[in-house]
Amino acid sequence: MFDSLKQAYLPEMELPVRTVDAEKCSKCGRCYETCPTWGYRWEKGAVPQPVGYGGFEQACLNCGNCIAVCPTNAITMTGAFSIQKGRYKGLLEKRMAPPDPLGLGGSKSYKEIEGELTEVERGIYTRRSNRLFKEKPVPKELVHRILEAGRFAPSAGNCQPYRFVVITNQNTIKEFERRAMVLLRLMKNFYLSKNGKRSIVKNIFFSVASYMMINKMDPRPFTAMEKADQMDNTLYFNAPVVILILKDKRGVSNPDLDAGICAQNMVLTAHAMGLGTCYVSLPMDPLSRPLMAGFRKRLGIAKPFEAVTSIAIGYPKGKIDGIVKRDTPKVDWIR
Ligand SMILES: Cc1cc2nc3c(=O)[nH]c(=O)nc-3n(C[C@H](O)[C@H](O)[C@H](O)COP(=O)(O)O)c2cc1C
Ligand code: SF4
Ligand code: SF4
Repeated sequence: MFDSLKQAYLPEMELPVRTVDAEKCSKCGRCYETCPTWGYRWEKGAVPQPVGYGGFEQACLNCGNCIAVCPTNAITMTGAFSIQKGRYKGLLEKRMAPPDPLGLGGSKSYKEIEGELTEVERGIYTRRSNRLFKEKPVPKELVHRILEAGRFAPSAGNCQPYRFVVITNQNTIKEFERRAMVLLRLMKNFYLSKNGKRSIVKNIFFSVASYMMINKMDPRPFTAMEKADQMDNTLYFNAPVVILILKDKRGVSNPDLDAGICAQNMVLTAHAMGLGTCYVSLPMDPLSRPLMAGFRKRLGIAKPFEAVTSIAIGYPKGKIDGIVKRDTPKVDWIR
């Protein structure tokens, strides 16, 4: 327990090792732009460098998106994000593997087996979070189809404990980002260490905070906050459409779960239409605070509704989707 407490702020982490092959790299900067954690430094015309900051040796959460978007296959990655000491959740099994739905243990590549898969499976395996959007608007009819896919999601007691707010007004999205960043910036500046050292004040503060709300104190989102801040408050990546998923707190059983299932119906439907999506939850906590009460009112959000997450939607800029490796969680079969 004492060890967990000691590790609550900047726990000991094992991080993936990324390598950029300078010979292969076309210096396009797509890896830099797409990385959720600002894990590369890049200057126009130069090869990106994998980096860390703020107490992180490397800023990488293992999503594989930089590899998926790279047009020249210049990036390789070994290892896995894991927490060595402390109580946050790292990858548990650390057996990183591409999709293996046929259970072939890697004897065939995904390309060789994809013909045997259903369209739904292919969508699930190739979808990646999209953070590079074209300026092109999304037709209203397609947004309607996405919302309808959410409406027909399963929910406990068929209660459908959700509502949606669709924002296409770019000024409103920008204002939302600006307002949310005020709180996020405060949090991440406090969390991220300037010299990579653990200060006593932060150690005590984060030890207590991590025991009170472990989900909110996990180190990973703080690097995403840094990216949003460095990239001019861009929490929504200039996406033309943002759908806020609101839960009705009166819902049967677990409305957060229902809202998540509903959101994933929308994400997979948008993906099947050739649209790119990214869940964006970072601004949800600021949105729930008194600081944003006026903005909430303008969006028509009032009790018993509360924003659970949001989805940025738009046309992808270049190739985003692709196969990545994932940890292989333990499965127990009780026969
Ligand atoms: C509930 C939820 C919230 C998320 N919030 C954010 C976010 O605020 N910003 C962001 O860039 N990505 C966010 N993501 C995207 C994850 O980082 C991404 O799903 C993960 O790294 C795996 O990558 P993939 O979606 O390409 O498979 C979120 C994902 C989920 C499911
Ligand atoms: S794997 Fe994901 S988090 Fe890591 S560097 Fe690539 S894009 Fe960034
Ligand atoms: S995406 Fe690939 S080619 Fe483009 S800068 Fe990054 S490593 Fe180089």
